[in-house]
Amino acid sequence: MQSMTAFVIPSVHDQAIALAQVAVPGIAADELLVEVKAVGVGIHDSYFLPREPSYPYPIGIEAAGVVAQVGSSVSGYAPGDRIVFISAMQPKGGVWAQYAAVRRDSLILPIPEGMSFEQAAAVPVAGNTTLRALHTLPTIDKGGSIFVAGASGAIGTFALQLARARGWQVAASASPRNHDYLRSLGAAVTVDYHDAVWPEQVRQWRPEGVDGALAVQPQTTADTARVVKDGGTVVTISGDQVPPTRGVRIAGLDYQCDVHGELLALMDDIVAGRIELVIEKTYPFTDALSALTKVQTRRARGKVVLSLT
Ligand SMILES: NC(=O)c1ccc[n+]([C@@H]2O[C@H](COP(=O)([O-])OP(=O)(O)OC[C@H]3O[C@@H](n4cnc5c(N)ncnc54)[C@H](OP(=O)(O)O)[C@@H]3O)[C@@H](O)[C@H]2O)c1
Repeated sequence: MQSMTAFVIPSVHDQAIALAQVAVPGIAADELLVEVKAVGVGIHDSYFLPREPSYPYPIGIEAAGVVAQVGSSVSGYAPGDRIVFISAMQPKGGVWAQYAAVRRDSLILPIPEGMSFEQAAAVPVAGNTTLRALHTLPTIDKGGSIFVAGASGAIGTFALQLARARGWQVAASASPRNHDYLRSLGAAVTVDYHDAVWPEQVRQWRPEGVDGALAVQPQTTADTARVVKDGGTVVTISGDQVPPTRGVRIAGLDYQCDVHGELLALMDDIVAGRIELVIEKTYPFTDALSALTKVQTRRARGKVVLSLT
């Protein structure tokens, strides 16, 4: 049996992520085997596990790579295809590995020409989450306004630009060191979430409240709701449970809508330079635990990526 290098959770009793040699996963008829070239890192990587993981369990859910083998019932893919994908809750293991078995019904996208594996790996989770969050907002006319809480991270960086592309005005929060960055992405107003007066600052800009808001980080939803107009919507990306007030709707992500085509368009926009893809740092695969530590600080600007090439 061929072996590969992977970052794994060793066993049910030992959950400390470690580098290990494990077997390359075999694929079922409805799966692809992908040679992983780059990995997108998220805070969820240390704790997203399927119900019945096969230990030692390679962690990680988003990656870019090259199709190595195609299951007998899979059509539309051939060895050598460059793809980017989300493979979550796969009992055989995730993507912090040289190879990953990816189910055909996973979110799989071709990598456009001109986009590197590292760039592609930075797109699917943040892009998919952002697009679903924007779909969850009610219709907002051109010239309408939104607030993004935690706008300098991976999701916020996309959200701000995609909101501007819809013709919306955006107020955004981050630490002061990131305010120039937020303005460079198109924010009209920037506030510091460490300063308790930030909701009043947003209200000074839009006294009647903004039309909608995205609360990216946990525990940001209640304060974010304060800057939304009566009857507006806050999309809580980390799933905060907050009672509604003034008719403000607190909504989770809409997982029903299909954003496949919009993700393809987002990647084309990145290649064409219409949307800026921001990668805080690309770490070599062997230094993956440093990358995980970085995202766990919740202070990364844009996305953190691992390279296996
Ligand atoms: N539901 C889903 O499907 C889904 C999918 C993906 C992610 N998520 C969730 O989304 C969150 C990660 O989003 P992300 O990848 O964009 O995060 P990220 O890249 O880690 O975001 C970091 C940014 O958040 C800002 N920030 C940190 N604490 C904040 C606070 N208390 N208030 C406002 N801003 C704050 C930081 O700003 P400064 O550095 O400027 O201080 C930093 O720029 C996680 O909680 C994750 O679980 C959910």
